[in-house]
Amino acid sequence: MATVAVAVATPQIRKSARSSRAMSFFLSHEIGLFSEIAANPAVLECTEIMEPDQKAKHFPVILITGTPGSGKTTHAQLLVQESPIPLQYVNVGDLVKDKGLHEGYDEEWQSYIVDEDKLLDELEPTASAGGLILDWHTCDIFPERWIDLVVVLRCDHTQLWERLEQRNYPINKIQENNESEIMQSVLDEARKSYDHGIIVELRSETTDDLENNVERIVRWILEWRSNHGFKRNPEETIGMNNKKSQES
Ligand SMILES: Nc1ncnc2c1ncn2[C@@H]1O[C@H](COP(=O)(O)OP(=O)(O)O)[C@@H](O)[C@H]1O
Ligand SMILES: [Mg+2]
Repeated sequence: MATVAVAVATPQIRKSARSSRAMSFFLSHEIGLFSEIAANPAVLECTEIMEPDQKAKHFPVILITGTPGSGKTTHAQLLVQESPIPLQYVNVGDLVKDKGLHEGYDEEWQSYIVDEDKLLDELEPTASAGGLILDWHTCDIFPERWIDLVVVLRCDHTQLWERLEQRNYPINKIQENNESEIMQSVLDEARKSYDHGIIVELRSETTDDLENNVERIVRWILEWRSNHGFKRNPEETIGMNNKKSQES
């Protein structure tokens, strides 16, 4: 089920992040696969100390949403790398395409018409099990019971326009997404669909934003586990490159 995409740093990011830890993420092209993370001795240790109740969800489900171009995939992939626990990454758009969970392709908008029932059936077992990052620009179709945290990424609309232009989106699609960002449509959709207490709105304009946001989500993951009765592995650390710091 894990969908893996390669992150490509724009020249702007390469320049501004040359010395930052986010840069090593962009350059490495190494996406933290579930299997790689599960093979990390620190994570296995973490798994061993979990409560014996097998029915309880041991890991949260995090939905990363926002207007196309806001940075969902970039955040999700860095989070997979930095997470102190194993998280499976699903790019919902890719899943729809790869598994044919749609009713055809809309040429005008250059996007698939999603078959929501098929999509939810496909995701149900994974989402119920927990330990999942969902990456999608739409957030209102997922059942509330699945989701523990909704991250809504926001970006200045002129910057968003440039990002979508670089993607060679057709002009109608750029305009629609630009307006959607100005109108904060995704944030409103999230607020209508989920308890406000689980929604966090985060700015995604710079690599500093990216690093801070991921660090904040990692902190939230550790708190979630603590609040759900899972003892913290003494080796778990908060912050960027926590797995690397464990190894050293
Ligand atoms: N916080 C950020 N700072 C700088 N550039 C970013 C940031 N987030 C995303 N980008 C860049 O914006 C573009 C779109 O990001 P992406 O993660 O693909 O967006 P989405 O998945 O929401 O469509 C990419 O070129 C990415 O490198
Ligand atoms: Mg994406």
